[in-house]
Amino acid sequence: MAFLIRHVPSSLRMAMPVSRWSALRRAVWLFVIMSTWLGAGEPASAERPAPDRQAGEAVYQQSCARCHGVAGKGDGVDARRFYPRPRDLTMGVYKFRSTASGTPPTDEDLFDTITRGLPGSNMPDWRHLDEAARWHVVDYLKSLAPIFEQTPPEPVPVSDDPGPTHADLAKGRAVYEQLGCAACHGAQGRANGSSAAGLVDDWGKPIRPADLTQPWTYRGGRTPRDIMLRLLTGIDGAGMPSYTGAVSPEDAWQVAYYVASLQAEPVWHRLPAAARVTGELPMAPDDPRWHGAEPAMLRLRNAVNAQGEWVAPPTITAVEVQALLNDDAVAFRVRWHDPSEDAAAPGDALALLFKTEESTGDLVSLQAWPYHGAPSLDLCYWVVGEPAAREAVAATYDAVRAGSSLAVARPARAAYAEGAWQLVLQRPRRPDPALPGAARVPEHGAFALAVVIWDGGNPEARAISPWIDLLIEDTAAPRATAH
Ligand code: HEC
Ligand code: HEC
Repeated sequence: MAFLIRHVPSSLRMAMPVSRWSALRRAVWLFVIMSTWLGAGEPASAERPAPDRQAGEAVYQQSCARCHGVAGKGDGVDARRFYPRPRDLTMGVYKFRSTASGTPPTDEDLFDTITRGLPGSNMPDWRHLDEAARWHVVDYLKSLAPIFEQTPPEPVPVSDDPGPTHADLAKGRAVYEQLGCAACHGAQGRANGSSAAGLVDDWGKPIRPADLTQPWTYRGGRTPRDIMLRLLTGIDGAGMPSYTGAVSPEDAWQVAYYVASLQAEPVWHRLPAAARVTGELPMAPDDPRWHGAEPAMLRLRNAVNAQGEWVAPPTITAVEVQALLNDDAVAFRVRWHDPSEDAAAPGDALALLFKTEESTGDLVSLQAWPYHGAPSLDLCYWVVGEPAAREAVAATYDAVRAGSSLAVARPARAAYAEGAWQLVLQRPRRPDPALPGAARVPEHGAFALAVVIWDGGNPEARAISPWIDLLIEDTAAPRATAH
């Protein structure tokens, strides 16, 4: 594929910022886009069977009813555990269509949704059902809503894809601004536009614009063609308008390529190694020495309320963690997207969790912490507005947040800009006599940690990472130096 990367069009090359990192990112982006572009347009293999609603209903009751409800009203037994809620299929409002806003989807749209699922949501994919069963369930879904009685709609015309080599990202960005995408999705695509807060969907639930930089949150697909369909047809029920007629086909493709270029490729599951620095550890989130520390991206699980229900859309879905160390201390840099900076109580907040020397139990059991009888953990807690973080050994988050446990101040510095937080937090490597039982960072080996984030603007939502091991390979040779 190297040849593809050499053929970067001059328009892209001009838009390229000078740093090597950006050039690399752009090359990776072009590679991803090229691969999806070359793989696009594969014909659906399905030979459609004769309609059979009864067979479709049987499949539906077996596979779909637990979420979408026995009668399709979106009230299945599992429904309240999910955000967004499983769709009320009797209303006939469909988000992901190839057809004009306000019209029903085509049968192929429904078949594709069922086959692929909606990845950024809890709607599973159903590839394991045979194709005939999927077509039968399409027939059954259409019997649930009167909208399907009208003449079957045609897909909206989509002009030919100019291909990635004709993508002009600067132009795409300008059209993105002109069309008002930024008002909801934010100038950088981080879901922090001025109209983003307070949106309500057709089902009366709060809804957030997508964070376009996070490809894992897209439900209808992340390729330029998928994005093109979203902007031409809108997302019915979610308040995202259709731009058919408001933009020329050429400009629409430029926006689609621009949006695709905003997607950051996450590196999940990497165990980060703490890099050694000589001298003082950095306190500034933009200190160049952070380039020397491997980042790990962690997907966050959002907690539900005490009734097991979603009250607000999860706003924080991932976090990046890095670590640097010297002889005395470890510095962590944590970065995450949050659509607003919330300084008023309860305020944006974060805790790094470590295992204490006494805590037993495996990391899997700690996933659900705190639970009845759970061991105490070591929490480094930062909340916006306080001059320092505080470290405490406690058995609940509340004990630390309310300040009711013995705590020691730790250096912390945070910065918020354009929908993203960066926080640097330091704690000692060796046991601190002021904090009995606190976690000890080993000389070599693994140091378990997890991250919990509270969004002050979305106070019911608490986002929790899995536990990961930070690798400590404390050789004398410095791995990261200022440059
Ligand atoms: C585990 C829960 C769950 C199960 C099981 C489930 N769904 Fe869904 N489904 C959802 C959720 C959640 C959504 C809403 C996603 C959104 O709004 O982005 C959804 C949305 C849909 C949509 C709407 C798509 C659109 O364009 O708006 C269709 C159609 C659908 N599901 C069909 C099915 C079918 C058919 C089955 C069974 C074969 C099924 N679902 C099983 C959770 C589920
Ligand atoms: C009025 C607010 C609003 C405007 C303006 C808006 N969007 Fe959206 N957009 C949304 C919302 C809300 C969602 C999330 C829908 C959901 O969760 O079901 C969304 C989702 C998306 C998605 C993700 C779709 C998926 O597959 O999950 C894309 C891509 C997108 N918008 C692109 C755009 C582009 C490009 C523009 C400008 C041409 C735009 N949006 C303008 C509100 C808006």
